[in-house]
Amino acid sequence: MPPSNHRQTLWFILALSVVPLGACQGEATWKRPSPGLKRMIEQPRVDAYEGEQAADGTWKGNMLKPPQGTIPYSPVPQSSRFLSGYSENEPVAFIPTRIDRRFLERGQQLFEVYCSPCHGSNGQGKTPVSQHMNHPPPSLHEKEMRALKEGEIFHVISQGEGFMPSLANQLSENERWQVVSFVKALQLAQHPRTGALPQPVRSKTQASQSTESEP
Ligand code: HEC
Repeated sequence: MPPSNHRQTLWFILALSVVPLGACQGEATWKRPSPGLKRMIEQPRVDAYEGEQAADGTWKGNMLKPPQGTIPYSPVPQSSRFLSGYSENEPVAFIPTRIDRRFLERGQQLFEVYCSPCHGSNGQGKTPVSQHMNHPPPSLHEKEMRALKEGEIFHVISQGEGFMPSLANQLSENERWQVVSFVKALQLAQHPRTGALPQPVRSKTQASQSTESEP
């Protein structure tokens, strides 16, 4: 085939391949639909979070207003010692958040719900549930229990220990610290650090403690 013929064939093939493209946009694409109807591709739409202009010219949000009394919630980033109870591989010996009376009282409520069935409201561990356990929980007032650091108690609640289940699914980190604060208060209530008390109260408690036996 001479070269000119060759080129003609090429043009012909090219032209042929363009023809079917025309079929993609038929007459209907360009015809205006009947009045009052809008084509899908031309319909107005509002994207989430986008404002919409009302007929009176004011702008209103697209999102629904939250119901009255809704409290905004966004988790505050927390330190790793708050989330784990450990700092540099050592359990912390304090509660790594701000505590107040409400915090402690919430801890008491949660202890009552989640811990008292086994440990008893007073932490002595003598409950109908524990009596049926082969390995009942220890009294939280025992010497070793009082020596537990805040971070260790947090860890036990988070991970469980021996026959005690983890309560991480039931209690948020903050709630676990609330329980820890109550456990510490409970222990202090039965074994006050007499040195920290004012003098008249100190001699009184020391006198009453010496008559009590250690649990
Ligand atoms: C289902 C019963 C049960 C529940 C509920 C429970 N515990 Fe325990 N807990 C135990 C038992 C049993 C042990 C003894 C674990 C062992 O030594 O095997 C224990 C041990 C402990 C210890 C001592 C851990 C140690 O280092 O020896 C602490 C502290 C403790 N529990 C706190 C709590 C707190 C706080 C809660 C509530 C958030 C709670 N427990 C809920 C049964 C329970």
